[in-house]
Amino acid sequence: MSAAEPIVRFVGIGKTYDGVTRIVDELDLDIERGEFLTLLGPSGSGKTTTLMLLAGFETPTAGEILLEGKPLSRVPPYQRNIGMVFQNYALFPHMTVAENIGFPLSVRGVAAADIAKRVERALDMVQLGGFEQRRPAQLSGGQQQRVAVARALVFEPKLILMDEPLGALDKQLRGADAARDPAAAPTARRDHGLRHPRPGRGAHDVGSHRGVSPRQDPATRHPGTDV
Ligand SMILES: Nc1ncnc2c1ncn2[C@@H]1O[C@H](COP(=O)(O)OP(=O)(O)OP(=O)(O)O)[C@@H](O)[C@H]1O
Ligand SMILES: [Mg+2]
Repeated sequence: MSAAEPIVRFVGIGKTYDGVTRIVDELDLDIERGEFLTLLGPSGSGKTTTLMLLAGFETPTAGEILLEGKPLSRVPPYQRNIGMVFQNYALFPHMTVAENIGFPLSVRGVAAADIAKRVERALDMVQLGGFEQRRPAQLSGGQQQRVAVARALVFEPKLILMDEPLGALDKQLRGADAARDPAAAPTARRDHGLRHPRPGRGAHDVGSHRGVSPRQDPATRHPGTDV
């Protein structure tokens, strides 16, 4: 792959759930290596769908998505090396905080001692040291969101997708203390050892994301579709 090649290419991507309504319609979008991109659009316009297509939890009904030049259509989610913070967090309710964060490492066969170290580092990054043994139901919404962020970052993915990841976090966690906040700024992510952080995320409101994402893709290009 050449250095100039986009890390991600959406080529003519379409998605319909019911065969009638086109949720995503002929989406062509290149995302550059190291780029921080925000998808903007009203509720129901297809932001989550677009992230799910890239992560591999939904399948496009038209077009192809390329990651580092390779078509993703036959690559399952766990082989894409993409970290995702889901809009509803999707934490495993029966697992502790430490087990939730360690999960992406254990499915990748990382040794237990190494998992423990990396989980501790991730917990520290989201300021949740001491919460290891709690279960998601014993956490506040913002604390659950921080566990979801830590789980998406812990395996140092190629790409990080965050679906409204800051909604439940207060201002200080969002940005004022950016060096400690994994979701606040690309430089903060680099400080925490991610080599090529390329987050993409959905958001309703430009204001809350202004200053953290230099490029924003409005949902107004195709009437009735998003991104
Ligand atoms: N699994 C599904 N089956 C059928 N329709 C779906 C499914 N998932 C989403 N949709 C529909 O697709 C459209 C886009 O949904 P999506 O979740 O992508 O929107 P969004 O832009 O993320 O919205 P929000 O800002 O509210 O999170 C909505 O009309 C939604 O009802
Ligand atoms: Mg959504």
